[in-house]
Amino acid sequence: MQNPPNTSARPDMDELMSRARDASRFSYSPYSRFPVGAALLCDDGSVVTGANVENRSFGVSNCAERSALFTAVSQGHTRFRAVAVCCPSADAPVSPCGACRQALSEFCPPDTPVHYAGKDGTYVATTIGGLIPQDSLHGLKETAGESGPARTH
Ligand code: THU
Repeated sequence: MQNPPNTSARPDMDELMSRARDASRFSYSPYSRFPVGAALLCDDGSVVTGANVENRSFGVSNCAERSALFTAVSQGHTRFRAVAVCCPSADAPVSPCGACRQALSEFCPPDTPVHYAGKDGTYVATTIGGLIPQDSLHGLKETAGESGPARTH
């Protein structure tokens, strides 16, 4: 019988980065020609990946990190143990944009490891808290339930 995934072991970041690199093959990036792949390690040990998806109306484009995150949450995953991002055509590692940092921080505790890599596999190791420090809105969900949303009528 196959062993269940070990959810307490330290995340295998090399494996997660390799999944992110593979995911970048599905990038739709004809405007930037800058493929990106992301991989999220879910708390049940499964991995969900995503790629950047661009649009001729540029603002509609979606980064790889949010593609992976929204796919994962849509499949019922809301707790994550690690994040890897790979930009295989970048000379140096490219860090997640501000919007992706914010989106990831909704579901990932500040100590969640994040690795991001460029062309030659060189990577930067940080955490969600390192990417989005002084996140004073972190407790908002807990307090939002207390009085409910504001009403105007
Ligand atoms: N991009 C990502 O998908 N993730 C990042 O971390 C950096 C940037 C995408 C957005 C756009 O499709 C292209 O890379 C160029 O910015």
